[in-house]
Amino acid sequence: MKKTFALLLTAVMMLALLTACGGGDKPADTTPPADTSAPADTSAPADTAEPEAPAAGGNIGVCIYKFDDAFMTTYRNALEAILKEKGYEVTVVDGNNDQAKQNEQINTFITQGVDALIINPVMTSAADTIIATVKSAGIPTVLINREPTADQMAAYDKLVYVGCDAAQSGTFQGELILETPNGGDINGDGKISYIMIQGDPENIDAQLRTEYSVKALTDAGKEVEQLNLTRGDWDREKGQTICANDLAQFGDKIEVVFCNNDDMAIGALQAIQSAGRKVNEDIYLVGVDALDAALNEVSNGNMTGTVLNDANGQAAGAVAEMEKLLGGATYASGEQSVYVDYVKVTPENVSDFMK
Ligand code: GAL
Repeated sequence: MKKTFALLLTAVMMLALLTACGGGDKPADTTPPADTSAPADTSAPADTAEPEAPAAGGNIGVCIYKFDDAFMTTYRNALEAILKEKGYEVTVVDGNNDQAKQNEQINTFITQGVDALIINPVMTSAADTIIATVKSAGIPTVLINREPTADQMAAYDKLVYVGCDAAQSGTFQGELILETPNGGDINGDGKISYIMIQGDPENIDAQLRTEYSVKALTDAGKEVEQLNLTRGDWDREKGQTICANDLAQFGDKIEVVFCNNDDMAIGALQAIQSAGRKVNEDIYLVGVDALDAALNEVSNGNMTGTVLNDANGQAAGAVAEMEKLLGGATYASGEQSVYVDYVKVTPENVSDFMK
């Protein structure tokens, strides 16, 4: 009798246990988060029963638009160092400024089964294709350096962009000119005459820096005259050639040389010096990025100023967002861009940025 009761009790207990483990409507441990559009900073719940993707130690594919780019070299070195230090296996590939090549590289990474991708697109216009590809493979992806539109990113919730607000860098360049003793009007004719040496015009950074550097001047009530605008594709040699041609054509009329980045500004400086002009005396010169070479020139008085494009901050931000994605985070549309601030660099604060 006792034995029968004990057996009965065991059976009842087992039934209760089975019901608790799997007999309900939904097993407790597979319930998806109620809001899959959780914002970027939502950390995984502490009591998650399901093991999450590894926080470190995964395989990461990094696609860079081209290795032969001064700023992106600093950026990719920082990215690789952070990822390796955290224990990830990292493969960084050079897109050689060729979108078709980069598309193949992305597909190869997917076939190899990488855990996450960090992509610096070659062409902003390729964003739709890139996003569709990583989405269909379900690979968590961080886009860097070339920002797609919010609508494009909304197509995939395991996608985030880490970069800077390009308009801010343009505004800072304009402010650097406004802060000079004569506000950029060296010859006192009542207007600021400038040349613009532009990056790759397909790139939003080039478009917004070009627009907002001048807008800062006109917003301050200044009259401006654009003597020339030429694409220099972020390239030092092109910066030098363009500036040399413009100096030959416009001579002393040029009061300000706006360069969308420092590498072109360093090239422009060579042309300015060959033409016997002196920065901060008879011409102003500004760039963006705060490359080491540019910081030296700002400190020596050969560049009026530059704007820090924080490669280390962006690399750290890209890895942090990637880890959130690996931990299961998803991004709501309209919340898929994470910005790192630009910083104005002048002769007064340049030493803070020099190593
Ligand atoms: C910009 C940077 C440029 C160039 C470009 C490439 O943010 O200022 O120097 O690297 O990205 O897309």
